[in-house]
Amino acid sequence: MRDQDAFYTVRGYQLLSQRDKLLTSGMEDYLEMIYRNMEKEGYIRISAISQLLNVKPSSATKMVQKLATRGLVDYQKYGIIFLTEEGKRYGKFLLERHNVIEKFLKTIGISENLLAETELIEHNISKNTMKHIDWLNQFMELHPEIICEFKKFKGISKTECTDEDDVGEK
Ligand code: CO
Repeated sequence: MRDQDAFYTVRGYQLLSQRDKLLTSGMEDYLEMIYRNMEKEGYIRISAISQLLNVKPSSATKMVQKLATRGLVDYQKYGIIFLTEEGKRYGKFLLERHNVIEKFLKTIGISENLLAETELIEHNISKNTMKHIDWLNQFMELHPEIICEFKKFKGISKTECTDEDDVGEK
């Protein structure tokens, strides 16, 4: 067991958390992207993934093969990829995690580089942290007056906070 209060370098923490993770951050990016784009047709092509993630088709092929050895995708000929049931479950989780982080950042007022910030944060939080951030999101949604107070606190809103205030960013 590691000492919970000891400091490590970022790399050290990544190595420690990787022990409990099934996938590397890179593999998570692919699985999330595959899951995002599966819904329409039920499958996705290697060429589409490489375009969506701005990587070479050869890199995409390699990553997809890794996902296949973990039983998350079904990769056959013609560059067509299907998700297995396990892959769908994991992909759904990854997309939810992405949305939880993105919503949290929006709620606190981040709009610049929102996607990049989300992508950088999402891989490194525990399920427990995600759960609590999700609760905070839900709490804030139930109490938009708190977001309004927060905006006033930051000095970006001078208006009074009322119940009718539509202050949550959509
Ligand atoms: Co993401």
